Amino acid sequence: MIIECEKCGTKLRVDESLINPSGAQVRCSACSHVFTVYRPAIVETSEQMPISEKKPSQKYPSAYIFTLTNQKGGVAKTTTCLNLGVGLSLLKKRVLLVDFDVQASLTTCLGYKNIASFYDAVHAGNNDLSRVIIKSRYPYIWLLPSNQNMVVFNKKHFAYDRFEYILKERLQNVANRFDYILIDTPPSMEFFTVNALTAANRVIIPSNCEFLATQGVHQTLNFMHIIKERTNTDIDYNILVTMYDDRDTVSQMIHSKLRKMYGEKIFKTVINIDTKVRESQVMNMPIIYYYKHSPSGLRYISLAKEVLESAIHG
Ligand SMILES: Nc1ncnc2c1ncn2[C@@H]1O[C@H](COP(=O)(O)OP(=O)(O)O)[C@@H](O)[C@H]1O
Ligand SMILES: [Mg+2]
Repeated sequence: MIIECEKCGTKLRVDESLINPSGAQVRCSACSHVFTVYRPAIVETSEQMPISEKKPSQKYPSAYIFTLTNQKGGVAKTTTCLNLGVGLSLLKKRVLLVDFDVQASLTTCLGYKNIASFYDAVHAGNNDLSRVIIKSRYPYIWLLPSNQNMVVFNKKHFAYDRFEYILKERLQNVANRFDYILIDTPPSMEFFTVNALTAANRVIIPSNCEFLATQGVHQTLNFMHIIKERTNTDIDYNILVTMYDDRDTVSQMIHSKLRKMYGEKIFKTVINIDTKVRESQVMNMPIIYYYKHSPSGLRYISLAKEVLESAIHG
C-alpha cells in the first residue's frame, strides 16, 4: 500500500503483509522521520439491518435528510458525510449514511468492498432497502453502500417517469428507523445528485478555501434552485467551510468572502485542514475513531452539536 510521511508528505510504498494489527514503525526515506502506520481496516462480513429494528425516540417519526453536495470535487463532501454522521452518532442519534456516488468512496472509507448497493436492491425489484443497509462497526451508524453497478442508473433510469424520486420513495420505507440520513453525492449534477437533492430536507454545501470556491457554491445553489422549482419546494441549505488553514491568507480571504455573500447560511463551525484526515481515510476509518484528539474530528463533533442545537432539526 502507499502511505504518506506525516512530516514531509513523501509517498512511500509499504508491504501491507509486514504490518501487524497493532501497527508498524516506518522510517521515511526522504526525511528520516519515524512514524507508526496501520493496516487498512477491511470489514469481511456485513451485518444486515433487522427488518423490525426501529428507533426508540419518536419525537420526529421520520429521519431528517441532509444531502452533501458541491459541483466541485475534492471539497470534503465524502469526508463531511462520514464524519458529521459519526459526530451525530456520538450524540446518540441513529444515522444512515447513503453512498450515492459510483466511486463508492464513502463505502470504502468504512472498510467495505464489493457489497450489495442501492442499485442491487432496486434491480431485484425490491423496494425495502433494509436488505442492503448494513450495520457498520461503529455504534449508531448504518450504511447504504454503493458499488460499480450503480453506474447503470445513469444510462437506464433517466428515461423513467419520475426518475428524480427513485431514492426519495425508497428511503421513505426506512426513514422511521433513523434520526438522520446523510447522502453523499458525486461532483456532477446528474441522476445521483438530482435524486439526492429531491430527497433532501436540507443541503449542506462543503466549500474548501481555494480559488474558485465561491464559484462552486454559486453553481451548486443555481442547480438547487432548479430542483426547488421542480421536485422539492421545501429544500433549504447551509454552507460548511472546510480545509481551513488559519495561518493561510487565502483561507481567511475565502472565508470572509463566503461570509459576506451568504451570511447566516454559513455554519459557525469551520473544519480545519488536518493531515490526519487523509491518514484516517487510508486506514478506512472515521477521523475521530482513528485519532480522538484530531482537531478536525473535534470540529465535526461541534458541527453535529450545531446541527442539533440550531433550529434546523434538534
Ligand atoms: N479537513 C481536512 N484536512 C485535510 N484534508 C482533508 C480534509 N477534509 C478532506 N480532506 C482530503 O481532501 C480530499 C478530498 O476529500 P473528499 O471528502 O473525498 O472530497 P469530495 O467528496 O468532495 O470529492 C481527500 O483526500 C481528503 O482526505
Ligand atoms: Mg466524494
